[in-house]
Amino acid sequence: MRVLIPGGAGYIGSVLTGHLLNLGHQVTVLDNLYFQQKSLFGYASNPNFDFVYGDTRDRATLEPLMAKNDVIIHLAAVVGMPACKKDPEYSQSLNYGSAKLVADLASKDQRIIYPCTNSGYGTQSGDLHCDENTPLAPISLYGTSKAEGEKAILDSGKGMAFRLATVFGASPRMRIDLLVNDFTHKAYSQGAIVIYEGHFMRNFVGIQDVARAMIFAMDNFESMRGEVYNLGLDSANMSKIDLCNKVKEHVPHFYFTEATVGSDPDKRNYIVSNEKLRQAGFEASQTIDDGIRELLKVYKMFGRNEYGNV
Ligand SMILES: NC(=O)c1ccc[n+]([C@@H]2O[C@H](COP(=O)([O-])OP(=O)(O)OC[C@H]3O[C@@H](n4cnc5c(N)ncnc54)[C@H](O)[C@@H]3O)[C@@H](O)[C@H]2O)c1
Repeated sequence: MRVLIPGGAGYIGSVLTGHLLNLGHQVTVLDNLYFQQKSLFGYASNPNFDFVYGDTRDRATLEPLMAKNDVIIHLAAVVGMPACKKDPEYSQSLNYGSAKLVADLASKDQRIIYPCTNSGYGTQSGDLHCDENTPLAPISLYGTSKAEGEKAILDSGKGMAFRLATVFGASPRMRIDLLVNDFTHKAYSQGAIVIYEGHFMRNFVGIQDVARAMIFAMDNFESMRGEVYNLGLDSANMSKIDLCNKVKEHVPHFYFTEATVGSDPDKRNYIVSNEKLRQAGFEASQTIDDGIRELLKVYKMFGRNEYGNV
């Protein structure tokens, strides 16, 4: 298939592109390289890969590219609450506006796959156990703009959405702000961390599983069209303290303690059911242990800090 990935040079897209090319699909990434990333260089020699440098919010850029593709995996976003806070206008126009544009421009025959976030579960109802019927009522701009994007895609009848757990694992466009990646990085680089809201429950999913799930959705699109699916690993419904203990199994000298040094603006504290996606035929399989092992290899490869003196 011909696949267009707006935002495909990011953390998830840089891994997903490799999976798609390995399966023989034609992949075009549209990205404005917001982080000056070089994460797709390794794919340049593949004749099935193409890259367009541009802004996916720009109709004149997006429209001709959409016309040439069967599937649109819309990854472009300003991701996470701190990043959105820095530029709220840009974040809203990208997270919601560009999703709406994709939904408007797509034909009925095209397939849109959209990754939303599961932050927003339980904020109103206080439910600890959440599934796709639990109201998604996010608080931060990141959560609200992504949820509006999801609605635009689903309302169009041309797409399906995943509500992703917090992703972990290695990517050529690495992110160390994500919880498993962050705790493992602190354990490796500092040997210690101070956490807050340690009993808050979160759900996680490996980045290879995210790529596989998106391809599963491409291949089974007609039965998934118009639907939303949680995408997480059941065994990785765990508290921050559980996660620290897990990291400590791999980095024995890791010390962690809890203090009231922060609070989550999206009040993420939930146990997420991934049953609906399992019933559809997909189940995540990368464990947290797999992820921590993978991450520790990556952190060794970070090598010397550009500004450090050791
Ligand atoms: N990583 C997670 O834990 C997670 C969880 C839930 C949902 N998601 C969603 O998955 C998607 C990808 O997330 P990620 O972790 O890869 O983030 P990322 O920040 O690494 O990727 C975003 C990409 O969008 C690109 N971009 C920014 N502005 C653009 C513009 N105007 N035009 C074109 N490209 C632009 C960036 O250069 C980057 O390559 C996002 O939609 C995010 O909301 C991620």
